[in-house]
Amino acid sequence: MYKLKKWIKKRKIILNEKKTEKNVLKFKKNIASCGSNLQLFGCPEVSFPDKLNIGNDCKINSDVYINARSNVTIGNDVTLSHGAKIISTGYELDYWMRVGERKHIDDSPIYIGNHCWVGAGAIILPGVNISGEYVVIGAGAVVTKDITESRVLVAGNPAKIVKRYNNKNQE
Ligand SMILES: CC(C)(COP(=O)(O)OP(=O)(O)OC[C@H]1O[C@@H](n2cnc3c(N)ncnc32)[C@H](O)[C@@H]1OP(=O)(O)O)[C@@H](O)C(=O)NCCC(=O)NCCS
Repeated sequence: MYKLKKWIKKRKIILNEKKTEKNVLKFKKNIASCGSNLQLFGCPEVSFPDKLNIGNDCKINSDVYINARSNVTIGNDVTLSHGAKIISTGYELDYWMRVGERKHIDDSPIYIGNHCWVGAGAIILPGVNISGEYVVIGAGAVVTKDITESRVLVAGNPAKIVKRYNNKNQE
């Protein structure tokens, strides 16, 4: 039991909601890498923090859950809104159906490109690569596939592109 508790502790960051400055320091210290100006609002939860890389100027809101078992990389100027979930693992279904044992996926990394906004309650599933920039993931979306286009709104379940935005500098 003691060993299990220690294992869980080692692989999770649980933050105290009140001490924001302390939380940022603790958070940064525990993840693989983090750029400057990270802002934490409330209390995100991270499993496998040693496999989480975050760029500069990112914002993470309360109740965000990141499972970085297969590696999660977040670019610069990315916002994760309240309750967003970034989940890079699950069970290997072929193996489960064939062998009858559950085995975790640990080779489906997630990438979230620069300037993206992940809306409240959105879920990003294992292996998703958001290589587009300025991608808006609508609240409650479930992202199952890669998003290569920039300046788009993806929404719904399964998430699809529902709107394209202009680049103001090119108008
Ligand atoms: C994405 C968002 C900002 C709207 O952006 P927008 O550019 O103004 O988009 P529009 O309102 O013009 O919507 C475009 C279309 O997408 C649909 N849409 C917008 N957001 C959607 C969502 N989250 N889920 C499903 N469909 C959505 C609209 O109904 C509309 O459909 P239509 O063309 O059939 O009428 C907003 O809907 C959203 O999801 N915001 C996130 C809020 C949030 O998470 N806040 C953070 C709090 S911590």
